[in-house]
This record gives sequence, structure tokens and C-alpha cells, in this order.
Amino acid sequence: MSCQQTLTVNLSDNRSYPIYIGQDLLNDASYLRPHIKGQQVCIVTNTTIAPLYLDALISLLGDYHVDSVLLPDGESYKSLETMNSIYNCLLENTHNRTTTLIALGGGVVGDMCGYAAATYQRGVNFIQIPTTLLSQVDSSVGGKTGVNHPLGKNMIGAFHQPQAVIIDTNVLKTLPARELSAGLSEVVKYGLLGDKKFYHWIEENIESLIALDESVLTEAIARSCQNKADIVALDEREGGVRALLNLGHTFGHAIEAAQGYGVWLHGEAVSVGMVIALELSALMGKISHDEVDRLCRLLKKADLPTSSPNNMTAKQFLQLMSLDKKVLDGRLRLILLDAIGQAVVRDDASMSNIVQAIASHTAK
Ligand SMILES: NC(=O)c1ccc[n+]([C@@H]2O[C@H](COP(=O)([O-])OP(=O)(O)OC[C@H]3O[C@@H](n4cnc5c(N)ncnc54)[C@H](O)[C@@H]3O)[C@@H](O)[C@H]2O)c1
Ligand SMILES: [Zn+2]
Repeated sequence: MSCQQTLTVNLSDNRSYPIYIGQDLLNDASYLRPHIKGQQVCIVTNTTIAPLYLDALISLLGDYHVDSVLLPDGESYKSLETMNSIYNCLLENTHNRTTTLIALGGGVVGDMCGYAAATYQRGVNFIQIPTTLLSQVDSSVGGKTGVNHPLGKNMIGAFHQPQAVIIDTNVLKTLPARELSAGLSEVVKYGLLGDKKFYHWIEENIESLIALDESVLTEAIARSCQNKADIVALDEREGGVRALLNLGHTFGHAIEAAQGYGVWLHGEAVSVGMVIALELSALMGKISHDEVDRLCRLLKKADLPTSSPNNMTAKQFLQLMSLDKKVLDGRLRLILLDAIGQAVVRDDASMSNIVQAIASHTAK
């Protein structure tokens, strides 16, 4: 069983870390064990993933002291209240500062485990084993950790980088198809924002991706992670270029918020958000309208939505978008395209163009 790809996230102060991507890595201790420094390990997972993969992971850790925390499943549990169950487990079992936390799950588990690692005794090591496509190509890489607050999503958190990210593509076989599509939305995003060649490659391979073709999937995950790793290496704390990763997200967050979190999956909302962002870029004369149609065709092949719900008005979008963290000094800062594969931050889109871009991609 060999690893098919290893990438590195290059960071200062000896914090660089590897991303291993391949089939069956969850059955191979050689990726995991070199990244565990002490004798104690705490696995954080949830009640859906534990029956599928927890035993396999524990069996790689035979001679360590291993505790596991099973969180309830769902974004609504990504809260400070739920965090306590992780801290309780660590304290009750006297985990010390050399303990290693392991996140086994999707983005919710990864963000919470990461935040526990960032805060427990002022910071301990952690390893990401992401099990959704979204977490494999996005949330497990880059060190953003945290939880939601009733007044805002991801509003409580910390930057804390993992020791390693171990991506086993096999786990995607049990992932619901809708979650797979939601992850593909972020894969498409990397092509659009910074990698035109990759975007065209996705267009050519979308059927194989949906069918979970092993080599195509590994390639898509690796190229996505490479794009994210390059951006994180340039701008770890989102002072500049990292904001480009939010392509489609300001519009998408408005859809998520309006529908109630969990009704639309994040990747579904981002899918429509990217369509609106490209439409706006076309209205501003930066790309052709054919590119918007082309993106819609690709997203449809990935079983993703391309229009916002018909109960949402442009006014509602604008209200929700001005609550979004991408607003600076009252001006709407949006990620738009200068060309396919070339995203930019702009604050000069006219209100009439924004309204038109939203309206032309609302379900009738
Ligand atoms: N930290 C970051 O940089 C970053 C980036 C993007 C998103 N996020 C966060 O990620 C979260 C979304 O993550 P997600 O899309 O992975 O959702 P998720 O973690 O809720 O997982 C989706 C569902 O799939 C289940 N699941 C996970 N792996 C499975 C598998 N292999 N087989 C069967 N079922 C499986 C989960 O239990 C859950 O029900 C959000 O909270 C978002 O804020 C963080
Ligand atoms: Zn996203």
C-alpha cells in the first residue's frame, strides 16, 4: 500500500507539515506514527464516523494511551458547549502538554478538534484525518480552527496548524453523494481562482470524479491541496491573497444564512455564489458570458445547484452580505475574476451590477 502523493505546506518557524494523499492510508501506521511525539493520543470524531473508521485508526495506535471523544453529528453542535466534551476527556484522562489530538471526520470535527488543540494547555499538537471531500481539499489544510457562536458562524477560533494531514481517498466511498458534490464545488473553486489548467482538467474529468475513479480523485485532491497550500504559505493569516479562497463565499454565505444553516450544504451555496461572482465579473467586462454558461454546465454535471432559491430577493442578499466579514468600512469587498484562473479582490462593483448578477441566477 503506497502513498500516491505527498505535498508540503511551507511555513516559518519549523511549522511546515506534510499532506499525504492516497488509497488506504488509514490502514498504514507509517504515515501517522512519526507525527505523534508523546505517549498520549486523543481521537476526536463523531457518532457517524466512529462506527466506520475509529477501530481502524485505534488499531494503528496499539502501544499509545488512546482516548476517544464521539461528538454528536452536525454543524449545530459546532459550539463552545460541545467543546467541553473534548476538554473533559483530556482533563479526566490527565492528558499533558505532549498529547496529540487526532481529528477523524469532516470539517466540523476538524475545526473543533483543531480548536481544542489550539487551546488545551495553551496549545498541543494535532493531526488531521479528513473524511469528507470538502475537508480533504479545504478545511484540514491551513490551520483555521474554531466553532460557531449563536451570533455568527466560525466567530470563535484560532490559527493552529496541524502536524500532518493524512488523506485516505477510500473513506469517500461511504460519503453521501450530496456531500461529495459539495466538496467538488471547492475543487472547482481552486481552478477558477488561480489555476486555469486545473479548471480545464476538472471539466474533462468531472464524470470520473463523480464516479470516484481512484487516480482521478487523488489527482484532484492533490492539485486542490497544492493550490491551498501555496496560498496559505504566502499569507497564513489572511492579510491578503488568502482572501481569494473566498471566491463565491460572500454570496454563498447569504444563501446559507437565509435558508437556515444545514438546509443548503456549504458547497452547494458556494456553487451558486461562484456563478453569481462570474456573472458579475462578466457584467464588469472582465470575462465573457460564455464562461458563466460553461461554469454552470460543469456545476450541473457535478450535481450542484446554479441558481439561488426563488424565495430570496437581491435585497435580502445585500442585507445578509453586509453582515458578512468580507465587508470593510461599509464597502462590499468581493472576490471577482479578471480571467478564468485569476481572481482579484474588488470593492468597485456597482450596486446595479450586483443586483443584476444576483437576479439573473435566482430560480424562477
Ligand atoms: N477550517 C477551514 O479552513 C474551513 C474551510 C471550509 C469549511 N470549514 C468548516 O467545515 C465544516 C463543513 O465540513 P464538511 O463539509 O466536511 O461537513 P461535516 O463535517 O458536517 O460532514 C458532513 C457529513 O458527512 C459525514 N461524514 C463525514 N465523513 C464521512 C464518511 N467518510 N462517510 C460517511 N459520512 C461521513 C459527517 O458525519 C456529516 O454528517 C463547516 O463547519 C465549515 O465552517 C472550515
Ligand atoms: Zn468554502
